[in-house]
Amino acid sequence: MLKDVFMALSKNQLLTSAAKKYGLKLGAQTVVAGTNVEDTIKSIRELNALGISATVDNLGEFVFERSEALKAKESILEVIEAIQANGVDAHISLKPTQLGLDIDYDFCYENLYEIVAAASKYDMHINLDMEDYGHLQPSFDLIDTLSKEFSNVGTVIQAYFYRAQDDIEKYKDMRLRIVKGAYKESVEHAYQTKQEIDANYIKLIEYHLLNGKFTSIATHDHNVINHVKKFVEDNQISNDKFEFQMLYGFRKDMQVDLAKEGYNFCTYVPFGDDWYGYFMRRLAERPQNLNLVVKQVFNK
Ligand code: FDA
Repeated sequence: MLKDVFMALSKNQLLTSAAKKYGLKLGAQTVVAGTNVEDTIKSIRELNALGISATVDNLGEFVFERSEALKAKESILEVIEAIQANGVDAHISLKPTQLGLDIDYDFCYENLYEIVAAASKYDMHINLDMEDYGHLQPSFDLIDTLSKEFSNVGTVIQAYFYRAQDDIEKYKDMRLRIVKGAYKESVEHAYQTKQEIDANYIKLIEYHLLNGKFTSIATHDHNVINHVKKFVEDNQISNDKFEFQMLYGFRKDMQVDLAKEGYNFCTYVPFGDDWYGYFMRRLAERPQNLNLVVKQVFNK
């Protein structure tokens, strides 16, 4: 019930615009690294000092104006240059709708092409985050075309989709992030229960660890993490074949502990003024995240 409320709020255009105007509020600063590149580089440096790398998301999604998509492209190009100039250990995550997928496929492709080409000069990885089902196939189409020319692109497999096993087989030679899935999807396309999603999640992770290129296991779920630790040991999969990923601000102690244990760890670092939809989805996933908000509001 609360999940549905936050999910509906995440798509509210009026509140999204208001949030952009008034800066980081509602406790979002605990899970968003900052609103500008300078603050973000500082946050990445702090993570790097703990042995943690970063994937940087210049927040933005569901863009319907060309000017906004072009602005997003310029910001991402700026981040790529800043990562390179500052010598921090980081790469880029981005969302196709941020670059105009809902406006025009070719326009989005051109924006994306420029970004992937700029990053490839520095051998920097670009991850196409996966959004809701309506954008899934067009996003894979973008990946298909880009990967013919570039090797620095990868994407996300969402375990709640029935088609995920087919997708992971098709993209096994690519660096993949595997997640449970964050959007509200219908029973026509996606598993609905936690048990089914968790079981498929484990199955996909194991498949890619055994057959795939590099695997990013993106979860805050300690049960999954413990399972993976045992699985890689039992199957003699070396640490350089995978990494754990978590979102900035979540389970910070566990992030540091995993890095200290010698696992590759990468934190997803969102930044920018378009934080509202991202933040609401985090509340929808886990209403207990409201605790973060309350603590922030009361400054404890
Ligand atoms: P889930 O929310 O299922 O929680 C399982 C259990 O873990 C909980 O019951 C609790 O015990 C424990 N737990 C979880 N969070 C905790 C916390 N904060 N503190 C303490 N205990 C906690 N989705 C998508 O659709 N497309 C994408 O591109 C991405 N990208 C992405 C990148 C990264 C780095 C991450 C971590 C996640 C994504 N996601 C995503 C989101 C993903 O699909 C999923 O919605 C969330 O990660 C929530 O699922 P979890 O696997 O983290 O655990």
